[in-house]
Amino acid sequence: MAEKNLIAWNVDEEDYPASGEMDEKLKFLLRYAVLAPSGPNNQPWKLAVDGSEVTVMVDFDRALPAVEPTNRTTYMSLGCLLTNLLVAAEHFKMGYQVERFPDGVDAETITVVKFKEEEGGKPHFPPDLFDEITERHTNRGAYDDRPIEAEKIKEMKAAVGDGGFRLDVLTNPEGRAKMAEVLGESHKIQLGNKAFRKDLARWIRANNEDAWDGLPGYAFGYSDFESYFGKFIFGTFDTSASWARKEMALMEASPAVGVLSTDAEDKRIWVEAGMRFEKLFLTATKLGVRFDLFSQPVAIEELRQKMIEILDVDYPQILIRMGYAPPAKHTPRRTVDMVLAGAGSRVVVVKR
Ligand SMILES: Cc1cc2nc3c(=O)[nH]c(=O)nc-3n(C[C@H](O)[C@H](O)[C@H](O)COP(=O)(O)O)c2cc1C
Repeated sequence: MAEKNLIAWNVDEEDYPASGEMDEKLKFLLRYAVLAPSGPNNQPWKLAVDGSEVTVMVDFDRALPAVEPTNRTTYMSLGCLLTNLLVAAEHFKMGYQVERFPDGVDAETITVVKFKEEEGGKPHFPPDLFDEITERHTNRGAYDDRPIEAEKIKEMKAAVGDGGFRLDVLTNPEGRAKMAEVLGESHKIQLGNKAFRKDLARWIRANNEDAWDGLPGYAFGYSDFESYFGKFIFGTFDTSASWARKEMALMEASPAVGVLSTDAEDKRIWVEAGMRFEKLFLTATKLGVRFDLFSQPVAIEELRQKMIEILDVDYPQILIRMGYAPPAKHTPRRTVDMVLAGAGSRVVVVKR
């Protein structure tokens, strides 16, 4: 990987400081945590290490007020980061205790994780999904029409588990077409809205931009030339109809469409949904199944209602296109040093 803003992905377990101090070990585990997926790769997190404790905080400056006033994907993204952290901890035989929202649900601290060596006991995340942390990526390309095997779907559902959480997977053409319709509608409604486009344009990047966050054009298959104009075009013009057509066709042609739902919702549940979602994403990676993600339809009440009727669920949280495809390129990540609160090296994103 030549690009500087992809160096976070160059992490090698051989470099684990096995004989180092606890805080050095925890900073090493955080190198896996920060590879987590997040809304438009806004990485809405701040981290702190103090002795044997890691504090995970929301960075509200990186939230998306017009795109999602409830902060659903912000909290889900924090959940994804937590799963990566705990999967890495278990891999290095580190035991842990997770305290959630110690200062209340409206505070910026999501969790404080207390670590203790060699007391991991039974892993919470069997099987070991550690190797998948650096492999996992969102894949927005076309998928083969090869179906996803029933056993793999079963394994993915098991990764989500139960107790108020569930994964529905639609493989029949009618079900996929209905979901594609919902997705198309969401693009037309949201991309047709200027405030929404401005909010999202903040995270759209040209391919060769050396930003440590956001969505480079290549993630959507754009050439360097196209990506150079992408941000301006996206922020300025309403391209919702053509975008909706393209995305609907991709979904209809994919072998499966999944929806992760919950039976209630609040900030705690969104964090937990994010944790389970990342476990699902890592499991899919292990199985060779690619994901393309959509939070838009869930954010529009009438479309969410349609999803509820199609699936007979309570609270859909994220829509997933699933299938097989060659791997796509990773997108930038801030390094642990940039994310550690008080490190003085945080990247300041200028609001436009
Ligand atoms: C909770 C959540 C919601 C997401 N929603 C969308 C979405 O609506 N549209 C989209 O294109 N990508 C979505 N993504 C994918 C992110 O854009 C992607 O994870 C991020 O750009 C980092 O890329 P990576 O997954 O390849 O590491 C979402 C990811 C998460 C975790």
